[in-house]
This record gives sequence, structure tokens and C-alpha cells, in this order.
Amino acid sequence: MNTRIVLTKRPAGWVDESCFAVEDCAEPVCGPGDVLLESIYLSTDPYLRGRMNAGPSYAPGFEIGRAIVSRVVARVIGSNNSRFQPGEIVWGFLDWALRSVAPRGEGLHKIDPSLGRISHSLSVLGMPGLTAWVGAIEIGKPAPGDTAYISSAAGAVGQLAGQFAKRAGARVVGSAGSDDKVAFLLEHCGFDAAFNYKTLAIDRGLREHCPQGIDLYFDNVGGATLEAALRHANVAARFPVCGMISAYNEVGDAGIKGLQALLTKRIAMTGFIIYDHVHKLAAYQARVAPWLRSGELVFHEDIVPGIERAPAALIGMMKGEAIGKRLVQVGAE
Ligand SMILES: NC(=O)c1ccc[n+]([C@@H]2O[C@H](COP(=O)([O-])OP(=O)(O)OC[C@H]3O[C@@H](n4cnc5c(N)ncnc54)[C@H](OP(=O)(O)O)[C@@H]3O)[C@@H](O)[C@H]2O)c1
Repeated sequence: MNTRIVLTKRPAGWVDESCFAVEDCAEPVCGPGDVLLESIYLSTDPYLRGRMNAGPSYAPGFEIGRAIVSRVVARVIGSNNSRFQPGEIVWGFLDWALRSVAPRGEGLHKIDPSLGRISHSLSVLGMPGLTAWVGAIEIGKPAPGDTAYISSAAGAVGQLAGQFAKRAGARVVGSAGSDDKVAFLLEHCGFDAAFNYKTLAIDRGLREHCPQGIDLYFDNVGGATLEAALRHANVAARFPVCGMISAYNEVGDAGIKGLQALLTKRIAMTGFIIYDHVHKLAAYQARVAPWLRSGELVFHEDIVPGIERAPAALIGMMKGEAIGKRLVQVGAE
């Protein structure tokens, strides 16, 4: 039998494991033109929480009783499609299942193993990496002398956003939710300063660690963190708005106070969604893969084994358990 993870009900507020079921299900049928796949890594991402809601959302919501879908790295184990051969490694938006079928092979992307680890297609050389690049470099426009502040800095996107801004000459400051994450940022990712926002109030952290104010705020969190960043921003600061995870499991919108600062400080606050930038992925990979190979760029993955642990792994990622990109390994490489 195959095994999959389905959504059993829509969460109200914080998602918990009762919203998921680990189910035995029939083996997928590989029809004409289709590709049969064995999953290796499932990506856990904050946006999946939004897709558990009924909507409206920028992407269609998951259906109750159907499998959760995210980016998955998989091995081709059967193919009725001349473009794909058994043994090839691909990624695509696939069911959270041990085995699945890609109808007509659509949406599958072959992974070039010479670029790095295959899991990197879901992390540093994939969507989180490109997100960090677009936000930190293209929108944030860091320059020597700037102070760049990154929230959720030890996460999949944050650790890279900080390193990219640093490479561009900025002084980089991060906040994260544990002392271990702060040590990771300072000792491995080259951040100039970092603080634990659970033990040091964000206002105090920013006053101590950004004495010249903030020129670039890479927002992963929204809420009170964004409000504090607005208070500490300099004139003409750039605020790439990548995510607002503090609100994803909340009911209702608490709103953001202090938006007058956008006017008085002439702040450019720019939301972006990475789907609009996917055409830049190959150029991004070509630029960043050599930095990764040479060790100039550091990237941490947190890998949880076992498909049955996928719901807990996703919830734990949103609660701050993981350092770096959290993946679930469900098959051998
Ligand atoms: N715009 C786009 O296209 C795009 C693409 C990818 C990701 N994103 C967004 O980017 C952000 C980061 O994504 P990711 O995949 O890299 O996730 P991540 O940062 O690896 O994991 C989520 C982290 O959020 C932090 N967090 C949760 N609740 C928080 C709160 N109330 N206040 C402060 N921090 C909180 C936790 O870290 P702590 O221990 O530090 O609290 C947790 O580890 C998310 O908002 C996501 O939605 C946007």
C-alpha cells in the first residue's frame, strides 16, 4: 500500500495534528504519458498554512480529504513519457505521499546533481534561496554602510537574506527565537549582530544592535516586529515584505500600527511573491551554487525522517523548532 498525508479539517487559529491524517491509500496508476515517482524529500513551508484555510488566498486552498501538496524531490520509478527515464531525480508540486504520479510529466523539473545536494532544490538552490535573493538584493538594494535587519533570521529564507546583504556590504543584524539560533547566525552565517527576541524585547534589541538605525528591513514576520522596525527605520529605508508568519495562525487581523513612518521617513515597503520571479531561478542557481561549493555561503537544513512525522514537522517549523530549512525525508536518496 501507498501512504499519504491528508487534510482532515480546516484549522481555526493554531493548526494542530488533528487537522491531518496519515492514510494508507491505493498505489497510483501510471497512465499514458504519465510519470511514476517515489518521494524523497517533502518541503515544509509557512505558506502551506494559508492553503489550509477556505480562502480567499493568492493560491487555491487544499481540499478536505485530499493530500497536502508542496514542492517534493522525487525519483522517477516508472515512465510512460519519453522526457523522463527511471532513476532520474526531479522536483515538482506533488502529493505528500510515498509514491505519486505526475500526469503527462507536467510540472516536473529535472535536478542537476552537479549543482549540489538534491535537497538543495527545495532550499538554498530553490524557492527559499531565490526568495532571499529577490527580497534582500533586488528589492532591498543593500549598499556598503547600510544596516540590514532580518527577522526570522535563522530560517530557510532568513539565513540567506542576511548573507546576501552582507556580501553586498551591509552590516547585518538578525533576530530569532532561541539562543542556539543566535549562535548559528553569529558563528556560522557571519551576521554582525543577532538577538533572541524572546528574551530581549525587539525595541531594545534594535536600539542596542542597530544604533545607526535600519536602512533595509527584510520582513519575514510582520506584527509587532514590523512595528518596531518602522520605529527604528532611517529615512529612505527599504522594507521588502517577504512574509508575515506571526499572523498565519491567528484569527482576524490585528493590524499594523505606526504606518505614518512610511510617509515621514519615505520608506519603500514592497511586498513580493516568488511565483512572479521563477524565470530567474536558473541564473540565481548559476550565481549561488559556486559560493555554496566553496563554502563562502553557509546553508543549514533540518531533516526530519518519516512521512508519518510530516504534520508534526510542519507545525514544529512554524513554532520555531528548526534551524534552517525543514524538510521531511520519506525515501532514500
Ligand atoms: N514572498 C514569498 O514569495 C515567500 C517565499 C518563501 C517564504 N516566504 C515567507 O518567508 C518567511 C520565512 O519562511 P521560511 O520558509 O524561511 O520559514 P522559516 O523562517 O524557516 O520558519 C518559520 C520561522 O518563523 C518564526 N516565527 C514563527 N512565529 C513567529 C512570530 N510570531 N514572531 C517571530 N518569528 C516567528 C520561527 O522562528 P523563530 O524561532 O525565530 O521564532 C520559525 O522558525 C515566512 O513568512 C514565509 O511565509 C515568502
